[in-house]
Amino acid sequence: MARLALIPGDGVGPEVVAEATRVLEILARDPELTLELETLDLGADRFLATGRSITEEEFRRLSDDFDAILLGALGDPRVPGNEHARDILLGLRFRMDLYVNYRPCRVRHPRLSPLHHPDGRAMDLHIFRENTEGVYTGAGGTLRGGTDQEIAIEEDVNTRHGVERIVRAAFEFAHEGGRKRVTLVDKANAMPHGGALWRRTFHEVASTYPEVRTETMYVDAMVMDLVRRPAHHDVVVTSNLFGDILSDLAAALTGGLGLAASANVNPETGRALFEPVHGSAPDIAGSGRANPIAAILCTALLMDHLGRPDLAGLVNGVVAEALQAGLGTPDLGGEATTSEVGRWIAGRVAMRMSAGVEPNDD
Ligand code: NAD
Ligand code: IPM
Ligand code: MN
Repeated sequence: MARLALIPGDGVGPEVVAEATRVLEILARDPELTLELETLDLGADRFLATGRSITEEEFRRLSDDFDAILLGALGDPRVPGNEHARDILLGLRFRMDLYVNYRPCRVRHPRLSPLHHPDGRAMDLHIFRENTEGVYTGAGGTLRGGTDQEIAIEEDVNTRHGVERIVRAAFEFAHEGGRKRVTLVDKANAMPHGGALWRRTFHEVASTYPEVRTETMYVDAMVMDLVRRPAHHDVVVTSNLFGDILSDLAAALTGGLGLAASANVNPETGRALFEPVHGSAPDIAGSGRANPIAAILCTALLMDHLGRPDLAGLVNGVVAEALQAGLGTPDLGGEATTSEVGRWIAGRVAMRMSAGVEPNDD
């Protein structure tokens, strides 16, 4: 039995998690998959009502009592400092030591990419974003706050341990999946201390994977190149901040944030948190316009994590069918609502499961 914690969160989070849950409930009809779901009320409403974002006991339960977490999104205009979202989301990533933030970005239908692919090759990018260090640790501080002499320092923390394990995870993924190349993305020309550590570690780890080709690129050149020749790039390993920025660009190149799923994992402990790459989208929350596909694709990543690649393939395949059929919310140029897309996908997953047929998502 797999126990799954649901954190719908803020804005469109609950709307898209409801559709992912609909799909999970269908997947749980599989005789060998027992899922137990529990919803936690973490988010802006509770924070504003009680002043508590997440308690020690909730951290403990989320770490120890569940096999995985599915999170919608956190962030609310009523909390302009974003404190609760940092406490909960970064808190879970850091305290559960979920050091791999894996963000696959694949063009699932050529119509969806804003780029023209004259040679027919489309982007199939796998971002390995370091998830426990960088400028996200909170190291730093403010001096003389609020005065005209204010000093604000945000330290960029890079440890050998932290860098080595994410680089190794990227190479391991490339090795296992027969991927051709791993690219290190950094800014070593302007940030030489961290840059040297990342580059030395990258080349050392690379030497133990002689069959995988390597490349290093500065992040400014990388964003240009992702637009210029998206299909060239394969596996990317990078720091927390650069990975955050690159993943929104990469998502846009596949058809938008509404299609981008991610996994925060610790491969050694098996702990995992799945979430769409997008945020709470306050501009469309409550309107039925949110695309639930990113959240639904999180269920595919979860199935892989639970050792059910067959069910992951099923979800991916049905999403491909939906996109092929032109079904979509307004961000994809469609007219369907969040729940219409969710119901269509859940219905097809159910049909495929009862027919015992698994569509191919390629
Ligand atoms: P966002 O991702 O919420 O929205 C950016 C744009 O993409 C908006 O125009 C939005 O309408 C659109 N969009 C996002 N998801 C969509 C979906 N599923 N379907 C259709 N359109 C979608 O980013 P933002 O506006 O910068 O941030 C809003 C809030 O979300 C902030 O508080 C931010 O900190 C937070 N945030 C949270 C997470 C997370 O919880 N993992 C991730 C990113 C941002
Ligand atoms: C993401 C988000 C978060 C991040 C924010 C909400 C702190 O943008 O998951 O991509 O920067 O990691
Ligand atoms: Mn982001």
